[in-house]
Amino acid sequence: MVNEFDREDYVVFLLSEWGDPHHPSPYYADRMKFITKLIRGKTVLDAGCGIGHFMVEVEKQYGNTKTYVGLDISTAMLNKAREYLPKGNFIRGDITTFNIMADTIVCVDVLIHQEDLTPFINNMWKNAKKEIIFSMNVYDDFLGRRAHDGPIYFSEGLIMHRTKKVRSILEDLKQLGGIEEHIYDELTSVFRVTKNE
Ligand SMILES: C[S@@+](CC[C@H](N)C(=O)[O-])C[C@H]1O[C@@H](n2cnc3c(N)ncnc32)[C@H](O)[C@@H]1O
Repeated sequence: MVNEFDREDYVVFLLSEWGDPHHPSPYYADRMKFITKLIRGKTVLDAGCGIGHFMVEVEKQYGNTKTYVGLDISTAMLNKAREYLPKGNFIRGDITTFNIMADTIVCVDVLIHQEDLTPFINNMWKNAKKEIIFSMNVYDDFLGRRAHDGPIYFSEGLIMHRTKKVRSILEDLKQLGGIEEHIYDELTSVFRVTKNE
């Protein structure tokens, strides 16, 4: 199956929606700012970095006190990231299998497309020295009704998971320190999960 993020015309469309990394749309800028504030590590790996918007926000908030690596499976996304951010360190890799340690592994709006969260969370955890931070769509009760336990599918490939399910995956992680859930908006939570050293 061709991943839509690998289509150059789709990447051009995303740039028109999100703005480029130096000129993000207000919604995008706010989301990046919110997530970047949660980082406690010095080395940051951005899993599913896309066009590199997060790198710009990390530099804005922390200057060169943090090192950044962007990892993505899509060559088309990485090509654009390198075009806008020629000094960035962007690597092609799969979140479920990569092997690069960092204090903080961040994953912004990638799990919103994943049916099976476990391989993503487990491999990020394996590579994180201190913490993983990820944003995703979650639900508890949907439209006032008790929802079923499985994912809810939206158009445009968006998937929403039950908070309880996310927590049960996190609670199985070895060396688990703590789980914080930061509510960004009515659909989106940002989880910060810390590791005991
Ligand atoms: C919605 S975009 C988000 C991009 C970026 N994090 C942002 O917020 O601007 C999802 C990104 O995840 C990447 N992706 C999806 N599955 C992946 C995987 N298994 N490994 C690495 N990257 C993946 C896609 O190529 C795409 O760039």
